[in-house]
Amino acid sequence: MADDDLGGRVPRWALPQVPRWVSLRNSLKLVADPLGALDAIHARFGATARLYIGGVQPSVLTRDPGLVQHVLQKNHRNYAKSRFNLGFARYIGHGLLTNEGPDWLRQRRLIQPGFHRQRVAGLTGLMQEIVADTLGPLAQDATRLGGAVAVPAHALMTRLTFRIIARSVFSTSFADAELDRLAQLITELQGFYMSTIRQPYLNGWRWLRGQFRYHDARTAELRALLGRYIAQRQAASAAPGAPAPPDDLLQMLLDARYEDTGQPMAPDRVLDEALILLVAGHETSANALTWLLYLLAHHPAEAQAIQHETAEVLGNRAPTFADLPRLGRALHAVQETMRLYPPAWMVARVALADDDYQGLRIPKGTLFSLNLYGLHHDPQHWDAPAEFRPARFAADAPRPLVPFAYAPFGGGPRLCIGLQFALTEMQLVVVELLRVFDVEWPVGQPPVAKQPLITLRPRGDFQVRLRLR
Ligand code: HEM
Repeated sequence: MADDDLGGRVPRWALPQVPRWVSLRNSLKLVADPLGALDAIHARFGATARLYIGGVQPSVLTRDPGLVQHVLQKNHRNYAKSRFNLGFARYIGHGLLTNEGPDWLRQRRLIQPGFHRQRVAGLTGLMQEIVADTLGPLAQDATRLGGAVAVPAHALMTRLTFRIIARSVFSTSFADAELDRLAQLITELQGFYMSTIRQPYLNGWRWLRGQFRYHDARTAELRALLGRYIAQRQAASAAPGAPAPPDDLLQMLLDARYEDTGQPMAPDRVLDEALILLVAGHETSANALTWLLYLLAHHPAEAQAIQHETAEVLGNRAPTFADLPRLGRALHAVQETMRLYPPAWMVARVALADDDYQGLRIPKGTLFSLNLYGLHHDPQHWDAPAEFRPARFAADAPRPLVPFAYAPFGGGPRLCIGLQFALTEMQLVVVELLRVFDVEWPVGQPPVAKQPLITLRPRGDFQVRLRLR
């Protein structure tokens, strides 16, 4: 494990230092309003500054696109994920997201082809089926209720995206009740892990109360549930005369062979990677889609523009994967939503050895907090950064995008492997939803606050009213 302590080795002249007492005062603000507190630090100290997270953990906070690119891409070999990420492996295993070094690279090379455009294209039909299964009953409810139905946005999008990723990985192996149990276990474990990080001083008490043992048992339950299905799939396809197995992500993991040995992954690794896809593949998309509903409800003209374009391109039919490039407005709305509300709002890295960026000395052990939210809201790179303007992502937008000023999927070799999957999924959901419904904000509902945990979610849920068109 890299030493996270700067030990005062960054020369004072190199970077503005947020004084420890300001850090401490800010740590209270950081809990109440982390994004506001970080914005205030950038406004006062610039794009890059040293500070103490929570008043104790030295870190370099940056929203400088060049420095972010340096860490994630140009000199990525010198930067590892932080302790925080690796500790998560206790509950969700050692898949791509939590893995490091040569072993990560070997796994990434093996799995990458499974996420190529054409593989994702093959999953579009399944995504559409699940979207239709979700929207159909809502349309019936709306008809029964006189034309509109109010839905809890975050709960609806979380259920939808979990079903999409679970069925993309496991096809129809799981019954609905088992899918709900899977989702519940993952949410519970994530929540527990986050609480051990946010309030580490309570860990002794948690241990005494048996909470670690309890959550280790839930981890075992989760792995047993997945392991059973993986074993069943293997047994089914090994049986003589067995029908062709489903063309899903699990099968991709089972069929993959290491280049050097020609061997498949060990069963435990298949499980780790499948679990990571479930974990990484739904909460982020769910949050982006939730915020998109929020924005569409407040910007009906943008929703109408998507509806007009969809009608022009598709008439009355459902979209196919091949139609998606011509449905640019829906994609731009998704991209702009992730600019305003990047689901992975902060990415952390630790320097493995001394480094240098444009004359800035970076000692071994420096913990970087790459503030993607800050990048996306910096007026230096965005006109009217607080405004929802999907057209800024159009090919003919007046202002070109600065590299790494927009990085919702990270960057460099650890760029999100699910990028194409997620964009396709979100674009399809928006197009399908707006083909059936207008999205309205219920009168009198208060504005929604942001809650930046591992992902940037709304604080509590909110409702949108879906009105049949
Ligand atoms: C809106 C949706 C999504 C967003 C914003 C998002 C964002 C990200 C980001 C920022 C990273 C890099 C983290 C880092 O460098 O520390 C990442 C990695 C990853 N994402 Fe996503 N993601 C999304 C959807 C998905 C989906 C749908 C899947 C799976 C189907 C997925 C699977 C992964 C995996 C496995 C990694 C680790 C990759 C590696 O390190 O090799 N993500 N994601």
